Amino acid sequence: MAHTLTKLYPWLTSHVVVYAPMLGAATPALAANVTKAGGLGFIAGGTKLDALEATLRQVSELTRIPALQAKTTKDVIPIGVGFQLWGVQLSVATLAFAKLAPAVAWLFAPAKSADLAEWAQGIRHATGGKTHIWVQVGTVAEARSAVHLAKPDVLVVQGSDAGGHGLSQSASVMSLVPEVMDMLDSLGRSDLPVLAAGGITDGRSAAGALALGASGIVMGTRFLAAQEAGIARGWQNEITRLTDGGVSTTRSTLCDRLKETKGWPACYDGRAAINQGHKDEKVGMADSENVALYKGEATSGDSAWGPHGRMVTYAGTGVGLIRDVKPAAAIVEEVRSQARECLKRVADTYVYDKPAARL
Ligand SMILES: Cc1cc2nc3c(=O)[nH]c(=O)nc-3n(C[C@H](O)[C@H](O)[C@H](O)COP(=O)(O)O)c2cc1C
Repeated sequence: MAHTLTKLYPWLTSHVVVYAPMLGAATPALAANVTKAGGLGFIAGGTKLDALEATLRQVSELTRIPALQAKTTKDVIPIGVGFQLWGVQLSVATLAFAKLAPAVAWLFAPAKSADLAEWAQGIRHATGGKTHIWVQVGTVAEARSAVHLAKPDVLVVQGSDAGGHGLSQSASVMSLVPEVMDMLDSLGRSDLPVLAAGGITDGRSAAGALALGASGIVMGTRFLAAQEAGIARGWQNEITRLTDGGVSTTRSTLCDRLKETKGWPACYDGRAAINQGHKDEKVGMADSENVALYKGEATSGDSAWGPHGRMVTYAGTGVGLIRDVKPAAAIVEEVRSQARECLKRVADTYVYDKPAARL
C-alpha cells in the first residue's frame, strides 16, 4: 500500500514519513521542508479564512521548486491541511481550497461523526477532487464509521501514545493498527492505505509500525524539535530534556481547562508533559486558582515551561527518544534511513530458508 501512496503523491519516497498538522506549532517552512525531503508536510487549517489563504500562498511559494514541480500535479500544492472539525466552519476550507488546492485535507475530531461526510463531500466538490481526504481516527469503531461516511483516501490511525489531542479511550498503535487493518479486510477495503500515528519518534518505532502493516508513519512530537517548529524555546527545551515518556507525560483535559478552550467533544483529551499545573490539580487545587496561576505565568518567557512551570507542553510518549533539535529534512532522512536499517536487520535475522528445527 506504500505503493498506492507514492502513486497518489509521486514526490514521496518509500518509508513514507508524514508531518502531522499541529495547531500552534506548524509553520509553512516546516510543512514545505518535510515535503521537499520526500515526505508530506501539513499545516494546521485554523479557523480563519484570511489566515489560511495567506499560509497556503506561502507554502505554495516555498514548494515551487523544479524538482518538486516535476512530480506534482499542476495547481495542487504538495502539502496537506489539517482541521479540527468541531471548531471550524466548512466554508473556511472550501473557499480557501477553491483558490488554492492542497493535496490533502486531514479531518479530525468532528462534533458528530456525520460531519465527516459533509466535509469530505464539500472539499471534494470545491477542488474538483484534486484534494484528497484523510481522516484521523482512534478506535476500530471510529475507523469503520469514517470509511463509511467520508470514503477517505487514507486513514490515519492514532494510538494513545500520541501527543496533543486524541480520544481519551484508545489503544496503542501496536494493537490498534492491526485490528483496524483486519476490520478493513472484513469490509473488503484492504486496499485503503493506513498510516500509524502516536509515539513514533525514530526509525525503530517507524519500522515497527511498517511491520504492523502501516503504509507509512505520522509524527507530531518529533517535529516539535525541528528548527522550523513554531513553538516557544521553553517548550522545545522540554521536548529534548524529557525522558521516560510514559511517566513524564499524561493524558488529561487540564490543558484545555487552563487555556479555557471550550468545545472539544467530550471523548477527547490531550497528552502533555506533567508540570506544576498537573501536580497542583492532583493535590486538589480548584481550576479557578490553577487558571489564574497559569495566566500569571504566561508572560514569564521560556522559564514558564518545565517541571515547575505551568505552560502547556503537548508531547507524546516518544518524547524520551528526542535529544536534539535539527532541520525538518534531517529528521525525515534520519527516521527513514534508521527504519530501513531496522527492517533489513529484522529480515536478515528472521528470514530462514528452512523451517526451524523442532525443540
Ligand atoms: C502540539 C501538537 C498539536 C497537535 N495539533 C493537532 C491538530 O491541530 N490537528 C490534528 O488532527 N492533530 C493534532 N495533533 C495530533 C497529531 O495529529 C498526531 O496524532 C500526533 O502528533 C501523533 O503522535 P506523536 O505526537 O507521538 O507523534 C497535535 C499533536 C501535537 C503534539
